[in-house]
Amino acid sequence: MAEDQNVSRRDFVKTAGAVTAAAAALPALQGAPGIQTVKAANDQVQYGLIGTGGRGTYLLKHLKGIDSGRCVALCDINEEHLKHGVDTILTNPKTFKDYRELLAMKDVDAVFITVPLFVHFPITKDALESGKHVFCEKCLVFKPEEVHALRALKAQHPKQTLQTGLQRRYSYFYQTVKQMVDKGILGDVHHIRAQWHRNLINEPSTAWSMKPGGDKNIDNWRIFRSMSGGYTAELMSHQSDISDWMFGSQPEFVMGLGTIDTLKDGRDVYDNINVIAQYPKGQKFTYTSISTNQFLPFFNGQRAQMGEIIMGTEGTVEITVGFDAPVLPIAWWYREPPKKAAEVTKAGEKPKPFVAGATMVTGGGANGPIPIMTSDTQFTGKEGFLDREVKFARRWLMAKGIMLQEEQKNPVDSELEGFFESCRTGKRPLADMETGLADSVSVILTNMAMDQGRKVYFNEMDKLGVAQTAATPAKKG
Ligand SMILES: NC(=O)c1ccc[n+]([C@@H]2O[C@H](COP(=O)([O-])OP(=O)(O)OC[C@H]3O[C@@H](n4cnc5c(N)ncnc54)[C@H](O)[C@@H]3O)[C@@H](O)[C@H]2O)c1
Repeated sequence: MAEDQNVSRRDFVKTAGAVTAAAAALPALQGAPGIQTVKAANDQVQYGLIGTGGRGTYLLKHLKGIDSGRCVALCDINEEHLKHGVDTILTNPKTFKDYRELLAMKDVDAVFITVPLFVHFPITKDALESGKHVFCEKCLVFKPEEVHALRALKAQHPKQTLQTGLQRRYSYFYQTVKQMVDKGILGDVHHIRAQWHRNLINEPSTAWSMKPGGDKNIDNWRIFRSMSGGYTAELMSHQSDISDWMFGSQPEFVMGLGTIDTLKDGRDVYDNINVIAQYPKGQKFTYTSISTNQFLPFFNGQRAQMGEIIMGTEGTVEITVGFDAPVLPIAWWYREPPKKAAEVTKAGEKPKPFVAGATMVTGGGANGPIPIMTSDTQFTGKEGFLDREVKFARRWLMAKGIMLQEEQKNPVDSELEGFFESCRTGKRPLADMETGLADSVSVILTNMAMDQGRKVYFNEMDKLGVAQTAATPAKKG
């Protein structure tokens, strides 16, 4: 009979302790959402937001609940989008069609830049030169020359915060998993596999389908290379950033296959991409984004579309950031079979068959999934009998895959609060400029690898775009 592969109650307490120890090293970003206390107006960071489209309005929805900042201005070239932004934030902001007028406002301390990728750099540049703190959505920059130019420009504005919208960096679960990787709880991590799959055949999303007009107008920016980096920029960038973070460096080289197979509506970005990147110690990141199927084979198939698997010699973590409540981040941990001692045999003696090993592999991992605990399921030692039993029951159901353990706070709220804190204190953002530039470099080089059908080395970036940067030196602030 196969050994029982389930997690026992005793196992639980033991293994949860390891993760609790890893999580204890994290800054106190996580906590149950409390009642907002309104601060004095002069404590608030006064901000403007440029680009009140899909993401801009989504951020405004979250910003509305954060009292450390106050929206005083909005800008969009599209009247309807601008109105939507005003109706979302409800703080009676000044409105502009030209972002330079917003930047000229003296009482704007900080700006959110949520415009299409191809205009991230010019607007970020003008904002830094106007003395503003900047939160610019991913990908931070679009072209190779902008990587060098932004680094040089930021050096001239050291006191201004520059943060990018890689919200996974602000997730308690991702931070816990990073600690697990660094502390060796997963053993040696050799592979990270990630996917973001969508079914645009059955459910065409407006953002990814050609809109009426059918030309390269700005409403269709995501599907044209002149304005967008395609799936590589819009989807993979979040997950290649996780890979860089977990492995602690950028890849050495990347290769890939990008094709337009099904969405033949005039777009020139790929509708599916298959990517492999190799890191300096030989670790691999393997990635796919496709348009014809959205099934996610993680978490017992209870989620769709996107996630990452971080695979070490001692264990594996499945993790995803989700979208928004009620599909917040989740993470499960599976342990590998325990290490076997090498069997020493005397000369002429037959090696003994290893019986347990054969049965261990039948269940997949050596144990069932162990959820990464949030504070509401951790034992304090102070809870009463009933509370304690409820926590045991919740953990047990999570381990069986019956209940999903979700992060209590949306990392988007944490990234926005973190931005205002950085503006006020000068604290380095978790998703800072170098994180954003490394992420942009991955996108640029991955697209180049697919376009040119070759292995592209990351050190090629040292020379790419340098001539153009030298030709347009940054203005002094
Ligand atoms: N972090 C994330 O998870 C996440 C999610 C979605 C989008 N994004 C990023 O946010 C950015 C915006 O994406 P979106 O989905 O909101 O696109 P969108 O097309 O819905 O919105 C972009 C808005 O910018 C406006 N705009 C364009 N040029 C402008 C200019 N010069 N001045 C002022 N407004 C201008 C457009 O009119 C539009 O309203 C992209 O870089 C995207 O990658 C990030």
